[in-house]
Amino acid sequence: MKILALSGSTRAESFNRRLLDIAVAGARQAGAEVTVVDLSEYPMPLYNQDLEYKEGIPEAAVQLKRLMVEHQGLLIASPEYNGFPTPLLKNTFDWLSRKQAEHEPPMFAFQHKIAALLSASPGAGGGTRGLTILRIYLQNLGIMTLPGQVSLGLAGQAFREDGRLHNDQLQQSTESLAADLFEMLQKQADRFD
Ligand SMILES: Cc1cc2nc3c(=O)[nH]c(=O)nc-3n(C[C@H](O)[C@H](O)[C@H](O)COP(=O)(O)O)c2cc1C
Repeated sequence: MKILALSGSTRAESFNRRLLDIAVAGARQAGAEVTVVDLSEYPMPLYNQDLEYKEGIPEAAVQLKRLMVEHQGLLIASPEYNGFPTPLLKNTFDWLSRKQAEHEPPMFAFQHKIAALLSASPGAGGGTRGLTILRIYLQNLGIMTLPGQVSLGLAGQAFREDGRLHNDQLQQSTESLAADLFEMLQKQADRFD
């Protein structure tokens, strides 16, 4: 069972990327094979239908879609921008939702995917409003989401130097969320065996 991990922020000191790293460690500890993707390595223009007709799907989207198809689980950590998931995250998934070939099934990249969601913010809310919207968006793409989630508030003070969280309970919840995702993926695989 393979998990693709990505952050909705490519900021150099991104809190979400740091929170994602904790979840990734939790998933690996549970036995999952995890691929971490940095979206800055997959630059895509802002989606525009004329551009798609003229130039086709950008190479970065083709590559990321291939990677997405090879993984069954998703770990997504994203900040909220004005209560919404980041434009980067939505733009990336919008490109991946496009068909590369006429006979490709709709939402091919996202078929049978299960995602676990996390967010972090320097504010007290931890970006949790953005996850509510992200959940709906992912559902529209055909991606199932785990009901549990982690939102880390006051992220500027939350991390220790070794990357772990000062708050042991939140550290454990983050690791457990990733382990739960892995367990769910295994159960799904058993059902379809
Ligand atoms: C356009 C914009 C809108 C933002 N809106 C929110 C918001 O609604 N809620 C919030 O908690 N933080 C908001 N922030 C602050 C981000 O949470 C903060 O910049 C955070 O560090 C971004 O995540 P990162 O550290 O992973 O890059 C906003 C930031 C930007 C640039």
